[in-house]
Amino acid sequence: MCKVPALKIRQGCFSGYVESPLDFARRGTVPYFSSLERTLAEGMESEMRQQIVPPEGGRSKDHFRNTAYVINKSRSFFDAAHTAGLMAVQGRSTTGRAFALGTGPLDDRREIIDFVRCSYLGLDNHPLIVAGAIEAIEAHRSLHWSCARTRLNFDYLAPLEANLSEMFRARVIAFSTVMLANLGAMPILASGMLTEGTKPVVVFDRNAHLSLAYHKPVVADETRVETIAHNDIDALEGLCRKHPVVAYVCDGVYSMGGNAPIKELRELQERYKLFLYIDDAHGISLFGRHGEGFARTQFPEALGDRTIIAASLAKGFGASGGMLMLGTGEQEALFRRYSIPYAFSVAPNLAAVGAALGSCKIHRSAELGERQKKLGQRIKVFDDRVATDEQGSSLPIRMVSIGSESKAIAVARELLDAGFYTSVIFFPTVAQGNAGVRVCITADHEVGDIERLCDCILDRVPNAIVDKAGRTVTQ
Ligand SMILES: Cc1ncc(COP(=O)(O)O)c(C=O)c1O
Repeated sequence: MCKVPALKIRQGCFSGYVESPLDFARRGTVPYFSSLERTLAEGMESEMRQQIVPPEGGRSKDHFRNTAYVINKSRSFFDAAHTAGLMAVQGRSTTGRAFALGTGPLDDRREIIDFVRCSYLGLDNHPLIVAGAIEAIEAHRSLHWSCARTRLNFDYLAPLEANLSEMFRARVIAFSTVMLANLGAMPILASGMLTEGTKPVVVFDRNAHLSLAYHKPVVADETRVETIAHNDIDALEGLCRKHPVVAYVCDGVYSMGGNAPIKELRELQERYKLFLYIDDAHGISLFGRHGEGFARTQFPEALGDRTIIAASLAKGFGASGGMLMLGTGEQEALFRRYSIPYAFSVAPNLAAVGAALGSCKIHRSAELGERQKKLGQRIKVFDDRVATDEQGSSLPIRMVSIGSESKAIAVARELLDAGFYTSVIFFPTVAQGNAGVRVCITADHEVGDIERLCDCILDRVPNAIVDKAGRTVTQ
C-alpha cells in the first residue's frame, strides 16, 4: 500500500471560457493535449498577446472569451453525459435528501438520494421556508410584479433586507440571483466609484466563478484587468505594490472545492487598501451564529468601505435569490440607483422573498447551530472513508478526482444506478483530463446513505480509499 499524493492543481471552476487553451497546456494539467493542439494554442495565444497594450490605468485590449474553443472541446463530454442520463435530470423531492427520479406517476419512479443540490443545511424543504413562500403569495395574491425596483416594491422586500442586514451586520440588498448581483456590481467596481474616484486595476482569481469572470470584457472596457493564479497571494501583493488602487475578485468558497485565503487577503487590505469583492455564494449560512458565512465571519463587526460580499439565498440559506453585503450608505445608494438588474429588472419574486423571510426565522433560532453541527458530522463520515483534496475541511463540497472524462461519466452513471445522484464534472468546469464527481454533503443526509455512497465510490475509484490512520491508500 502506498500513499497517493493529492492532486494539487484543479483549475477551471466555471471559468474555462476565459482561459486561453495554452493556459491549460502550460499548467501541465492536460494529459491529452496533442502537439498539434499545442501548436494551435500557441498560435492563438501569440495572436492574443500581440493585441495586449494595456497602458497604466488605461483599457486592456486583452481577449477574454473563447467560446467556440470551449464548445468544440466540451461537446462530446456533454453529449456523453446527456446520453448517460446524468444531465437535465427531472425529479420531485420526497423525504430528506431523496427525490423521485423522472416524471409521471410518483409510484412508478425510482427514489434516488441526491448529492447534487447545494442546500448544505437541508433547508430547501423546511416547512417554515415553504410556508413563508405560500404566505407571501397569498397575502399579495400575486407572484410577480412586472416593474423595476426603482419604481415599486413588494412590501415584504424591505423587511427581508432589514432582517438580512441585521443578521449579517451589513447593508444588504437582495437580488433574484447571485449571477445578477455580480452582473450589477462588476461595472460599478470598475468605474472607480467604490474606490474614491480612482479606477482600480481589477484582479480576478483564475478560478473565480463564471458569473464573475464573464464580466471581464465589460470591466476591461473601463479599466485594466488582470487574472492571477488561484489563491496567488504573492502575485496579488506584487500588483498591489505596482498600482495605486487594486480590487480583487474571488469566490469565498469555490464551487469545485477549496476557499479563498481570507486572512491573507485581509492583511493585504490593511497594508495596501486592497478592495475585496468576495462571492461567498457557497459559504453563507454554514458558519456564524446567524449564518453570516465563511467570508463574513472573518471580517470585523463593521464591514467598512473596502469589502463587498456577495452571497446566495438559494444554497445553504435554503430559499431563492442572491444578495450583496455592503459596508456604507454611499455604496448602498450607488447600487440602488446604478446596479443594472436593480434599476432595469425585477426584484426577487414573492415566493423567493417569503421563503427567505422564513429562512431568516431559522437563521435566528438555535436550529441553525444544530444543523451546522450535523453538517460537520456528516462531512466527517465522508472524509473518514473517501480521500479527496478537500478532506478535513469544514466546507461541504467534495471532488472525487477521476481524470478521464469518459471514466467520470461512467462512474457517475454507476452511482446513479446504485441510487445516488452526484454531479459529474468536466471541462470547461475543470481543466481537460481533470474530470471527477462532485458530492455535496448536507445536514439532512442520513449517515447510512453517506456510508453507502462512499462504498460505491470506493468500489469504482479505489485510489480514494482511506486507511484506519486516515491516510489515502491504493490497493
Ligand atoms: C460562486 C458562485 N457565484 C454565483 C453562482 C450563481 O448563483 P445563482 O444561481 O444564484 O445565480 C454560483 C453557482 O453555483 C457560484 O458558485
